[in-house]
Amino acid sequence: MDFDCFINIDNLSKSELKSLLLLKVEEDINKLSFTANQIRDKFLSNEVKFCGMIEISNICDCDCLYCGLRKSNNEITRYKMNAEEVISTARQIINLGINKILIQSGDDSTIEKDYISYIIYSIKQYADVSIILSLGERSIKEYEAWKISGADSYLLKFETSNSDLYSKIHTGYALAKRIESIKNLKKIGYRLGTGNLIGIKEQTTDDLINDLIILKDINPDFLVCSPFIPAPNTPFASDLIANKQLTLNFLATARIFLKNIDITATTSLDSIEKNGRELGLEFGANVVMQNFTPNPYRKHYQVYPSERHYFTNPIESLSSLKLRIENAGRRTFIKN
Ligand code: 5AD
Repeated sequence: MDFDCFINIDNLSKSELKSLLLLKVEEDINKLSFTANQIRDKFLSNEVKFCGMIEISNICDCDCLYCGLRKSNNEITRYKMNAEEVISTARQIINLGINKILIQSGDDSTIEKDYISYIIYSIKQYADVSIILSLGERSIKEYEAWKISGADSYLLKFETSNSDLYSKIHTGYALAKRIESIKNLKKIGYRLGTGNLIGIKEQTTDDLINDLIILKDINPDFLVCSPFIPAPNTPFASDLIANKQLTLNFLATARIFLKNIDITATTSLDSIEKNGRELGLEFGANVVMQNFTPNPYRKHYQVYPSERHYFTNPIESLSSLKLRIENAGRRTFIKN
């Protein structure tokens, strides 16, 4: 395959996307990662951006078959952080030199509009950082109010472009409605993030190709894709974990296809491989997430099992991650 030609062309065919996703031979995979890196360098830069994550509530009204936070999972302890706790965690992140903060929760209808507005406003008073919300599908009124309070970005994933699979794993919800919400967020003026799940049961390679095509159509500012990880106490608990190479190939193919968007190396990559986030960076990603959810809450945000970061000190793991990234020849712009 001629990888060089991908640097300058925007429109890859379905069969080209398929060949990239399914690469298995080491030599080809090296070329894939090399090309993804070249494109990231050409359209963005060498820099790895850091994003500090605060999981403010694990209460969820949805019953998604794959997710550990699903409503019918009675095995987890539910929590909701109070506004002051969220704000002081955000200050801790800012004081470490990180200028992107992701505020995330389940689809929690007990989260009130003003509680989020107050948090956003207070953080923005403290420092002019970028605030990313990921609070599920909410009303247009709420999206608008939070934008006015100072939120910059909103992350709402479509999870899969296969509408039958979407309805099945989201217990009757419709993909069309999710896509409409995603497009509304863009209209309201958010920097838009979206993404999919890779390797979920019954997902085909064609589904992943269509995920890429839908991404091109949505034209988001940033991408957050997670490998599927079986979560205990869910109907998918005994399914297979996502294939590592398929996940990395998806990230690199997304970089080659979408060119200049931010692509996140999610903490979930660490669940498919030790130092998985760094691997993600080798396959086209340019943003890393670091979890700052304070104890005692952190262990209860069990979307999927990820013991690796339950008990680590965020400040220590941040500096070791930063060092590993810099040793791999990438620049970072955080203080510690
Ligand atoms: N494996 C990987 N990612 C998951 N998510 C939920 N459950 C899982 C899982 N088992 C991701 C979804 C969702 C977010 C809450 O976490 O992409 O958007």
